[in-house]
Formats: sequence, structure tokens, C-alpha cells
Amino acid sequence: MRTVDLIQKKRDGGELTREEIAHLIRGYTSGQIPDYQISAWAMAVFFRGMTDRETADLTLEMARSGDQMDLSAIPGIKVDKHSTGGVGDTTTLILAPLLASAGVPVAKMSGRGLGHTGGTIDKLEAIPGFQVERTREEFLDQVTRVGAAVIGQSGNITPADKKLYGLRDVTATVNSIPLIASSVMSKKIAAGADAIVLDVKTGKGAFMKTLEESIQLAQAMVGIGTEVGRETVAVITSMNEPLGMSIGNALEVKEAIEVLGGRGHASLKEVSLVLGSYMLVLGGKASDLEEARESLKARIEDGSALRKFKEMIEAQGGDSSVVDDPSRMPGAAETVEVKAEADGYVSSVEAEELGLAAMLLGAGRATKESVIDLGVGLVLHKRIGDPVKAGETLVTLYANPGDGIELSAAEQKIRRAYTVSEAPVEKPPLVYAVIT
Ligand code: URA
Ligand code: CA
Repeated sequence: MRTVDLIQKKRDGGELTREEIAHLIRGYTSGQIPDYQISAWAMAVFFRGMTDRETADLTLEMARSGDQMDLSAIPGIKVDKHSTGGVGDTTTLILAPLLASAGVPVAKMSGRGLGHTGGTIDKLEAIPGFQVERTREEFLDQVTRVGAAVIGQSGNITPADKKLYGLRDVTATVNSIPLIASSVMSKKIAAGADAIVLDVKTGKGAFMKTLEESIQLAQAMVGIGTEVGRETVAVITSMNEPLGMSIGNALEVKEAIEVLGGRGHASLKEVSLVLGSYMLVLGGKASDLEEARESLKARIEDGSALRKFKEMIEAQGGDSSVVDDPSRMPGAAETVEVKAEADGYVSSVEAEELGLAAMLLGAGRATKESVIDLGVGLVLHKRIGDPVKAGETLVTLYANPGDGIELSAAEQKIRRAYTVSEAPVEKPPLVYAVIT
């Protein structure tokens, strides 16, 4: 098989066979096929697309390119969740203990933050002592015993995707639906869960800016899941503004604790309940969405969700007293209030700008090597549609002034992120569509 013939076939709009896709992915992973040939193929895919069958074959080939988690020793239906990346998106910290408290085991591998979006693994490290690195045995044992574990992506999961994603990043081929869908789903399949709930973000702060594109991506991912026998549901949720009210690592853990304890802002709580309800139904612990929601609300109200979070923290070596006293996590020496300049209604809260502002304070990474400050970030007081008076606080900024910390640049970004209009503004929906 000649690689150049496969590039040409795709360039001319043809459909590659399973064997041809295997040739490309195996050859690339082993180093036998060079970057420039895979770049040309990725660009051909960008313009020509892939059939559902090709996309499923590509996904499975990438899933098999490295280690695959075998979760079969854990009793029950294991359900994973994945978000395409948002700001103030703390749902994993809520859903892992919440679902475990309702009887669905969650064995989750998560990532670190990069750029304007945060990462679950960084957030968990704000809890003193919390270990995100676990051996496979420790991980499986914890999920069996406690019902939930959240750890960092282990060594050699989907090396083909790692290499291909890096190449796409520098060859303008990231934004292809079959390539994104297969990239995400290959990692989920290798992670071993029986069923998958996807949170596909849509709007200004998301990868996919339009609802139409978001639905296409969701359909592609659900199609792959169905094709390979992992039941998959995709919920399309808003990233027109940050999901929760906190941006920054310890601040987001604190907000997750509030939601698990029955407090917290309605938006993060509502999206968590929607995603969680699908997880509970897929996990076989509720017969419909209504029953699922009631069951999850009961776990929050009777305190079992919060107790499960403590158990999970202790199992991973962390100090669970942060649940009762979040001030035991890293904090900030200084706070600054960013205030509204005029009366009116909030008409936009740009998630990306706020994510970047938090990054300037040290909450996020500009590059993979950046060191982050777990205690800093932002707390929002106003969302789209909220009425506001001149002089009222829009955002409280938490900072630890020091080298490289750009307080005034962050403040400027926050001002730019908010628009206040004279006329009343309707609150945008939190959930736009569900693809099953
Ligand atoms: N996230 C991924 O994991 N892969 C992509 O291709 C895009 C976003
Ligand atoms: Ca289905």
C-alpha cells in the first residue's frame, strides 16, 4: 500500500477502507509515515470530509494505538462524561461524587487546563494533598470501593491522537468535524467506560460558535459511539457566558462544594443535573430523566453527595476538611472589585475574555510549561440578563500580586467582557439540544 495513493484517493473525494485507515494511523504512530504525508491527508479530510464508517474506523484505530483501560472488574455500568471545553465549567467535580452517591461508578481521566479554559486535574490539586496520579490498580480499586475516582490522563493513552492533534494544531486542520469527533471519542473509548455523556459547548466562548456546527459535531460523536457499541448522548449547552460564577482553581472547587451541598448558582447546578440525569439513566439507576433528576436532587438534599466527595478526596490522599472549610485551600492576598459604570442590563459576558483575564492573574497556563497559582481567579456577580446599577460589582478579582501578574490588564479584559445595555435583555438558554 502506498501512502501517496491514499492521500490522492481522499483528495479526490474517495472513501478509504478500514485497512487503508489502519495503514495511515499505524504507520504514523510508529514513525514510518512522515508528518508531511499525514498533514496532506488531514488537509484532504478537512476539505472532503469522511463517511460515518471511515470516522468510526479512524476512531477505533486511534483508540487501539496505545493502552486501553479495562474497567470490567468494576461492577455496574460505568458512565464517563466529557466536555468540549468551557470557562467556569466545574461539572466533573460535581458529577463524579454525585453519580457515585446515586450508585453509578465514575472512573474518570481528566486533563489540565491550557489557554483560556481550566482543567479538572489542576482544580483538584487545589485540595491539599490530593493525588491525581494513581496506578491502574489503585484507580480500579478506588472506583470499586468508593464509586468515583478522577485522575490525570495516564501515560500511553491514544498516542496516535496525541501526535495527530499536535500536527493538526500547526497545519490549520483542527476544525474538521470528523477529525475532532474521532479525536475526542478515541480517548473516551480507550478510557473504557460502557456509556458516555458528552457536553458539547456552543456559542462565543466555545470551539463551535454556531448551534448548527455544534449539532453536527454532536451527531458525529454520538454516531461513533453507537457504531462501536458505547451508548452515547450529547447535550448541547451554552458557552455564551461562563457556566458557573467562579473562574480559577480553588474558587471553582469551592463552587462545586456549594452545588453538592444544595447551594450554588442555578446555572452550574442546572447543567450538572441535566448531564447527571442522562448519566444516571445510561447507568441503569433510573428509568427516565424525571426519576433521575429527583434521585440526584435527593442525594444533594440528604448530604450524601457531599459525603461522597469527602470520601473521594480522602481516597486520593486529600484533606477532606476543605469541604467544610474551603479557606483551607490556596487563597489570594488581594481582591479588586470591578464595578459597573452605568445602569442597565447585562447583555454580554464574554467567556473567553474572562478566561484570559484569569490566566493573566496566574490561574491558567499560557504554555504547557507555565506554573499556575491555584488560589487566584474571578468570581462573577452578574450574568446575561441581570439588571445592574452603576457602582455595583460585576466581578471580584482575586490576585496574588507578583512578578508577571498583570492586574490592570486583567481588569481591562473584564471590563471588555461585560456589556451593559439600556434595554432589558432576555436570559439565554442553558441547554439548546440533546442528541441521542
Ligand atoms: N479536543 C480534542 O480532544 N480533540 C480535538 O480534535 C479537538 C478538541
Ligand atoms: Ca442512540
